[in-house]
Amino acid sequence: MTNQGFTIWFTGLSGSGKSTLATYLMPILKERGKNVEILDGDEVRENLSKGLGFSKEDRDTNIRRIGFVANMLARNNCVAITAAISPYREIRDEVRKKTQAAFVEVYVEASLDILEERDTKGLYKKARAGIIKNFTGVSDPYEAPEKPEVVVHTGTESIEQSAAKILAYLETKGLIAPKKVGAKV
Ligand code: ADX
Repeated sequence: MTNQGFTIWFTGLSGSGKSTLATYLMPILKERGKNVEILDGDEVRENLSKGLGFSKEDRDTNIRRIGFVANMLARNNCVAITAAISPYREIRDEVRKKTQAAFVEVYVEASLDILEERDTKGLYKKARAGIIKNFTGVSDPYEAPEKPEVVVHTGTESIEQSAAKILAYLETKGLIAPKKVGAKV
């Protein structure tokens, strides 16, 4: 059987909705017959990347580790969904090149204004106050992808709309089967 796995690589600012979208997509992809694993930034930092901070070097190490594991899953019939800020284009592109399966980069775009207003974890406020240093989008760079496979605008779209865009792309590329007639997802 040919490999049915691939990577969905979410990238975007903190609080943009990467984890939420990953969690939303997981049961839908399972319903379509896929094995799915999520490599979530916060979870990876508790386990695989414990002890790493937010310098460029540490972030790059974190992203390379996530890319390494995602590739292992993707080349073995699994959909690997990653949800880390992954702020640096060069490292994302490096991971893409090393991946031995389809690589679907999804830019989770939302304006800083909206994210700061929402501030679900209260981190933007702390970053503005200088309590958290090197915070992505405030005092540290974020390099948006130049040619992502999909862009979702979570500030203005509903989660259903963003997920539908991603699913439509996957269907078009033959990576997942179309929705079954009568199925909810
Ligand atoms: S990445 O840059 O290495 O991809 P990752 O996604 O793992 O980042 O972790 C980001 C999460 O760590 C944020 O959502 C936030 O909760 C937390 N965090 C703590 N400090 C920072 C910081 N300086 N910059 C960005 N996120 C931070």
